[in-house]
Amino acid sequence: MSFLGIDLGTSAVKLLLMDGVGQVIQTVSKEYPVYYPKTGWAEQNPEDWWQATRDGIKEILENTDSTGKNVQGIGLSGQMHGLVMLDQNNQILMPAILWCDQRTQAECDYINDKLGDKLSEYTGNKALTGFTAPKILWVKRNYPKVYEQIRHVLLPKDYIRLKLTGEYATDVSDASGTLLFDVNKRQWSAEMLDFLALDKKVLPTCYESYEVTGKITKEAALATDLPLGVKVVGGGGDQACGAVGTGVVSPGIVSVALGTSGVVFACQENYAVDSLNRLHSFCHANGKWHVMGVMLSAASCLKWWVEEANRLDGKGYNFLLEGAEQIPAGSEGLVFLPYLMGERTPYSDPDARGSFIGLTMRHNRNHMTRAILEGVIFGLRDSLEIAYRQGVCVQRIRVSGGGAKSKLWRSILANVFGLPVDVVNSVEGPAFGAAILAAVGAGAFKSVEEACSVLIETVDIVEPDKAAQPKYQAMYGVYHSLYETLQDTFKAIKKI
Ligand code: XUL
Repeated sequence: MSFLGIDLGTSAVKLLLMDGVGQVIQTVSKEYPVYYPKTGWAEQNPEDWWQATRDGIKEILENTDSTGKNVQGIGLSGQMHGLVMLDQNNQILMPAILWCDQRTQAECDYINDKLGDKLSEYTGNKALTGFTAPKILWVKRNYPKVYEQIRHVLLPKDYIRLKLTGEYATDVSDASGTLLFDVNKRQWSAEMLDFLALDKKVLPTCYESYEVTGKITKEAALATDLPLGVKVVGGGGDQACGAVGTGVVSPGIVSVALGTSGVVFACQENYAVDSLNRLHSFCHANGKWHVMGVMLSAASCLKWWVEEANRLDGKGYNFLLEGAEQIPAGSEGLVFLPYLMGERTPYSDPDARGSFIGLTMRHNRNHMTRAILEGVIFGLRDSLEIAYRQGVCVQRIRVSGGGAKSKLWRSILANVFGLPVDVVNSVEGPAFGAAILAAVGAGAFKSVEEACSVLIETVDIVEPDKAAQPKYQAMYGVYHSLYETLQDTFKAIKKI
């Protein structure tokens, strides 16, 4: 018996087949492009997602034995907030507008201004450019003809669900990031639908993450080689699934994801929202809630540095990271601001720009690599500080995502946060989490918590080094002051 986790990421879909006792049988990853048609815009073609997923499922099943082929449940995880619009024949009306797309500031200002405090009361959040509702409003304002044809609005992973099961469905954790969802009551917000004059019929049915939402259809079975009738559970947004996949399902242990985005994520027993909505307040995939801060560029800063700025291939990562290890903590006074796609937490500013500050003749490429690693962690520390101020309990960190593979990056995280950093047995956090949710939905475990306590173990711990902390503390202070100093400069650059 096996369970399949599918994580529809931004750069690739990652598939993971887990057996009945939680051992990973196999993983497969299939890439697809992101299009940046204008500065700050980010789009993908949902057909690319489906092709990659279909090919990935075929490949993973082809290369497995009878245990693996006996799939008993499927869980979907995915990049959050993206807008997929379908007409009455399920035809894609426009490229999907992604979570990191920044085109909707005017729509966010409109929603925030019009609704004021009510918005947080209705949704637990404020309008941010990444979220789905402002994107819908943007389409209404800019492409009214397309808007008129919309019959279904789906989140990215739920487009895959439609292809697999024929159902229009989503889950509470992903729905939380739409700004159309009452996070406290775990249901679509009638007030928000009313405010945006949006018909509830266009929205998918919302389930808890471990509930069954549909079964593999004949057509999907033919396309993927999956057995007919396999159950597909709600699954979750990539952050909630990543938290499940690393066992972050109760307060105290906080998840840090160093993926394309950078995330600080803390589970809450009860719904809680702070008056300023500095952190997102969302439903968790285990029936609880969570708060999180999201940086738009984290491991993607390193990817940019290696592949775009230095024009190196895959081997360039180790080469540059080894160079960064030669440089002392604090990069000899060089600071990097990681706002390559603008920023969401804590600044919510689409115009923010990436920057190196403090360059001298002494600095070389190794300093710059290290400053990038440090700058991303300083950005995450901004979210940690807000969490502390909100009274969130933080005892230790569980790190995941591509960036977590770097020992140097993990040690910078431990030292800048002043907390122990754990790595757990699953590196594919969200896909593993999705497979766990599938196993719970199929009845293999009583609850998400039970599954996590059985399946997840710590395999590595980095303790913070007290000696490195004063330097990082000072550099973090400098980093933190820079956004405010440069805010107007960023705006001026935009106008040029
Ligand atoms: C979460 C968020 C990102 C995306 C892409 O709010 O925007 O984590 O889900 O990974």
